[in-house]
Amino acid sequence: MKKNHKRILVTAALPYANGPIHLGHLAGAYLPADIYVRYQRSQHRDVLFICGSDEHGVAITIAAEKQGITPQALVDRFHAMNAEAFAAFGMNFDNYSRTSIPVHHETSKEFFLDLRQKKILKEKEEKQLYCEVNKMFLADRYVEGTCPVCKFESARGDQCENCGTWLNATELINPKCKLCGTTPVVRATTHLYLPLGDFQKRLEDYVHSHAEWKDNVLKYCEGWFKEGLEDRAVTRDLHWGVPVPLAEFSDKVIYVWFDAVLGYISSTKEWAQRIGSPDTWKKYWQNDETRYIAFIGKDNIVFHCIVFPAMLMAKGGYILPDNVPANEFLNLEGGKFSKSRNNAIYVKDVLKTFEPDFLRYTLAMNLPETHDTDFYWKDFQAKANGELADILGNFVNRTLAFTEKNFGRKVPARGTLTSRDKEMTGLVKETPETVGSLYEIFKFRDGTFEAMNLARSANKYFNDSEPWKTLKSEPAQCATTLNISLQIVRTLAILFSPVIPFSAERIWKMLCIGTPLSDEQWSSAGEMKLAEGHKLGAAEILFKKIEDAAIEQELAKLGVPSETETVKPIASFAPLKPAIAYDDFAKIDLRTARIISAEPVPKSKKLLKLHVDLGFEQRQIVAGIAEKISPEQLLGKTIIMVANLAPAKLMGVESNGMLLATASDGENFALLTTSKTVEQGTGIQ
Ligand code: 2FM
Ligand code: ZN
Repeated sequence: MKKNHKRILVTAALPYANGPIHLGHLAGAYLPADIYVRYQRSQHRDVLFICGSDEHGVAITIAAEKQGITPQALVDRFHAMNAEAFAAFGMNFDNYSRTSIPVHHETSKEFFLDLRQKKILKEKEEKQLYCEVNKMFLADRYVEGTCPVCKFESARGDQCENCGTWLNATELINPKCKLCGTTPVVRATTHLYLPLGDFQKRLEDYVHSHAEWKDNVLKYCEGWFKEGLEDRAVTRDLHWGVPVPLAEFSDKVIYVWFDAVLGYISSTKEWAQRIGSPDTWKKYWQNDETRYIAFIGKDNIVFHCIVFPAMLMAKGGYILPDNVPANEFLNLEGGKFSKSRNNAIYVKDVLKTFEPDFLRYTLAMNLPETHDTDFYWKDFQAKANGELADILGNFVNRTLAFTEKNFGRKVPARGTLTSRDKEMTGLVKETPETVGSLYEIFKFRDGTFEAMNLARSANKYFNDSEPWKTLKSEPAQCATTLNISLQIVRTLAILFSPVIPFSAERIWKMLCIGTPLSDEQWSSAGEMKLAEGHKLGAAEILFKKIEDAAIEQELAKLGVPSETETVKPIASFAPLKPAIAYDDFAKIDLRTARIISAEPVPKSKKLLKLHVDLGFEQRQIVAGIAEKISPEQLLGKTIIMVANLAPAKLMGVESNGMLLATASDGENFALLTTSKTVEQGTGIQ
């Protein structure tokens, strides 16, 4: 947090209340925002977390028409459904509002009138698409056609879903009315326009003063500035929305994006009224000591980095977003998430089968922070079982179970520390800072990875310390090992609390600390605060492993054939190579290694550059698998590698080892890995 900031305002994009939220939504804006808020709260900072349903616009009216219900009935249904799904997922909003309520209408009208009175909003007659069958102007999504930029054939009148371009409907190639399929005609109509061009210089200065923003966000803004900002209509010929508060435009409503972004402010007002302090919203929106962070998905960048700031500048007296961490998209099993049947995983459904923390952890490890990522059910299972259960759950359980069995559930004494103990406690002390500083800069994937790394190291420490042996041979040493391990369990509960809050609470309960987990300061996470003799609760299994059958069921829902159903191509087997002596084979030093980063080698189609952890050291290797597997699918995987292969350079990049995988493509491509979690660097024979 910057020095002059005393509090943080966090908003997450208001989802349209036109359907159930899915995993793509969670990975875009909501999970990162929630991790950030929970982390900041555990730093005991003043944080307000605001969200709500976006209930206006054509996204709503079209969905209502399709279902044969009123827009109000539609938003009532999905607002309630999504609020419930968010709560079940553990979203820690201070307020989840909705834009159809009076405080929002008043706020939007106040902004609109103020900008009109200042003569900022300009009246203009322009040509728009009109459907002669339905006798209406085709606002936004009422028209579809080919995107002039990327040639996507189902681009909507307001925005192309494929390339994200914010369009004027008249720019579409071959436009068609969404209601009747006929080709609309062009007619002149009068609207009020927000002259973004008048704000370009101030917007450029604003964006350029934030070199720390994510590259994708800065690049996107630069693209807009280069094109030159234009007037944008902020009224629409619709009956659903905030009515324009001017007599001469009383048959029109305010453009949904003009009102939606103001939903953050009206939601804050609603919160302030609810807590009985109606003016407190001003402390968050009209005070330079507040740092405002707006979490969104990449398709919302223009509205949050250009339109909303321009509106706030025009109104005056409001703070602007200090950062807009926009994520890319999460794809599903190699395709795009979409609400059409069979191609989305709805939060409300998935939480009926799986614990929210499984979803939170696996999504956190796969967030599309720098590029699109893919959600695969198999990967979900592998991460849930192989990391949450086998690493974190295993460490917590073995530590508590051992203490229960051998020390009567009491924290044993910590005696003299060996060098191994010192190394471990040193790591515990520095990890909160490592993880926290990654969360501060919105690198939630890396932060979560580092937290899990501590659990990995803790398991290794437990193994190497062999308390089951020292219990008899050196009881004081055994007690020290368990004391330190229990302290680490406490550290892990705090470090994991932003990502898997439900499980962190369960660990906390097992530790019987007495004060709530939320009272604990992040900065004290690395300290050894459990006193000798402190009585612990019963050891419980933290994570129940996910069975293959559960995953097969989810795949079937998506129409992905199970492995047994898949028709395999007839393999053509390569002839066997000549026999070798065992001594020849024994020269090869095969080891397990964990992939800690993976990225493409520039200018190469085939090569990926990987960093792997061998336990005793980290290495860079280059593998020719870029066309077979994506970098995200590799992260965190334990591979088998040839660890003593002489270094070589591939496309100028040094490789210090070779990863083993099947020598095939497509369905037959697989990495060689271990059947269960083992320490990195373990030899293979
Ligand atoms: O893209 C969407 O789902 C929009 N409803 C996001 C709105 S964000 C903010 F402006 F409210
Ligand atoms: Zn496009």
